[in-house]
Amino acid sequence: MVPKISTLSGYLHEYQKSVANPIGFWSNIAESFHWRKKWDEVLKWDFNSPNVEWFKGGKLNITENIFERHLFSRYDQVALVWEPNDPSEKHREYTYGELFSEVKSFANVLRSHAVRKGDRVAIYLPMVPELVIAMLACARIGAIHSVIFAGFSANAIAERVEDASAKIMITSDGGYRGNKILNLKDTVDEALKSCTSVQSNIVVKRTNQDVAWKNDFDYWWHDEVDKVMDEAPAEILDAEDPLFILYTSGSTGKPKGVLHTTGGYMVYSAYTFKNVFQYSSGDIYFCAADIGWITGHSYIVYGPLLEGATTVMFEGIPSFPNPGRYWDIIKKHDVNQFYTSPTAIRSLMAEGQQWIEDVEMPSLRVLGTVGEPINEEAWHWYHDHVGGNKCPIVDTWWQTETGGIMISPIAGVIPTKPAFASLPLPGIQPVIVDNEGNKLCGKSVEGNLCVQFPWPGIARTLWGDHERYIDSYFNQYKGLYFTGDGVKRDEDGYYRILGRMDDVINVSGHRLGTAEIENAINEHPLVSESAVIGYPHEIKGKGIYAYVVCNDIPSDSGEELKNSIRKGVSKMISPIARPDKILFVQDLPKTRSGKIMRRILRKIAEHNEDYGDTSTLTNPDIVNDIVKAAKLLK
Ligand code: PRX
Repeated sequence: MVPKISTLSGYLHEYQKSVANPIGFWSNIAESFHWRKKWDEVLKWDFNSPNVEWFKGGKLNITENIFERHLFSRYDQVALVWEPNDPSEKHREYTYGELFSEVKSFANVLRSHAVRKGDRVAIYLPMVPELVIAMLACARIGAIHSVIFAGFSANAIAERVEDASAKIMITSDGGYRGNKILNLKDTVDEALKSCTSVQSNIVVKRTNQDVAWKNDFDYWWHDEVDKVMDEAPAEILDAEDPLFILYTSGSTGKPKGVLHTTGGYMVYSAYTFKNVFQYSSGDIYFCAADIGWITGHSYIVYGPLLEGATTVMFEGIPSFPNPGRYWDIIKKHDVNQFYTSPTAIRSLMAEGQQWIEDVEMPSLRVLGTVGEPINEEAWHWYHDHVGGNKCPIVDTWWQTETGGIMISPIAGVIPTKPAFASLPLPGIQPVIVDNEGNKLCGKSVEGNLCVQFPWPGIARTLWGDHERYIDSYFNQYKGLYFTGDGVKRDEDGYYRILGRMDDVINVSGHRLGTAEIENAINEHPLVSESAVIGYPHEIKGKGIYAYVVCNDIPSDSGEELKNSIRKGVSKMISPIARPDKILFVQDLPKTRSGKIMRRILRKIAEHNEDYGDTSTLTNPDIVNDIVKAAKLLK
């Protein structure tokens, strides 16, 4: 088990050590794991090329570190608690022994479908236990999983499956989400029409609904598992062999296939999980994220299971059957650590006090938030009403690309401040730079958040596109990893994340590239051009505001056209990318080089009339027209 920091002086000491001697610091933590062969070199790196390798030459399998390493002590301990969407359905529990057996069986299914080390497996599943089993089965045989969030459309799935050339798809007949049923198999069928790499589709039976079926291509999960044994030797991998790809939005149109490798990700997800949440053996930990995003990968699946934790996964949504659902789950399973998003907190807060007023959750010890800045009001509500004034809140800042938490309080160890992610974890060396790349030293500074030294969980590349990796993270400021976020460091050295500095909008904690949404809007036959920006939204953090230029601006309010644009975006990407506000305009404010002045559009959306210098616009008059129209928009 990885070492745990338990005092503030312990943190300061570990932090100093991790900066003075990162090699010694991380190799000591890596020693806690089971390696078939020790590494030849702890770290090789260069942020200029860039290239990062951790524990190179080390041989291991991450599932041996989840299962074999714990098996004697934890065979009968519950590893995974699955809480279904409908509270009247019975929850399921898997001990480490049972989960291991399921993983090995499914590893054999994958092998029987000719999946081998290095092959890519696309997984488009709702929050059912088979999702965890499928991921770990891939890891068992050295296949690279690529989980696609079950809210994505056929078009978005196809784009991701094709980019990764996935050999196999794993999906389900359908999925439950509140009182809705998602037709996952239909969506996958549509997506796979254009994906030639996929050779079979393995389907979990969840909703029992009728689905179209293609013999010798579609296979029921339960039938396939019946045909195989539950013994499956682990494929032994190099520490730098890929573990998974996870697609995320960037500032240009195409999603980025963020690649994480085996050894470093293992060490980093386990270390950060144990320390940030102060997990102790026997605790019940509940992360309410979706496994389709990095939070679920690192802090529902890998981090907790590597540390022998009991991890709760929830199929449904916080408002079903009523807004007290999270509290019911916490009470039912005696949850000790609870981790969710600021959007979930704000939406539950907006539902009113009655759902939380008389709720007692004595088991709760730690609360966490992730994915977006948390405003002070939501922080206090979470602290006072959910945590009963006794649970520290860990506001965890990190990214798909960082693999694990980077800046965060360590629960009960680092004092918290509302809306501050606080201090860097050991091993993390943040720097703040101005737009010219000058490092802003000292306290009370604000600028672009970069990291100057590698940590084991850093993404190694973007699948199939190392150039874009360089361009996205290392070209802005020489020798530094640029996060894309703005940040403020206060007089205590505490970090407050201000939000994205690039063309990415963080909507309810989901990262969406403006270019991706614009491309989808522009597909509409009546649209000639569009510009999308984020604007402050009470619940979602940021809402999506689309300025749309049409061939003919509708003479009425244009509701019909707006709906059809929104439908198009849902179809191309996902309902989460639907614009909240659409404003039809004659033209967009552009510079002489044809660049859209988003700064002005942001100000208009915020009703802030200080537009700055507009003299470089080719069409300055358009600003007044847009302002007038924006004032009338509901
Ligand atoms: O802008 C930051 C925001 O979410 C971005 C990363 O998004 P994603 O890769 O989808 O990962 C989300 C889950 C780790 C960051 O660049 N973000 C994440 N955590 C916080 C945050 N913003 C403010 N405070 C946080 N705690």
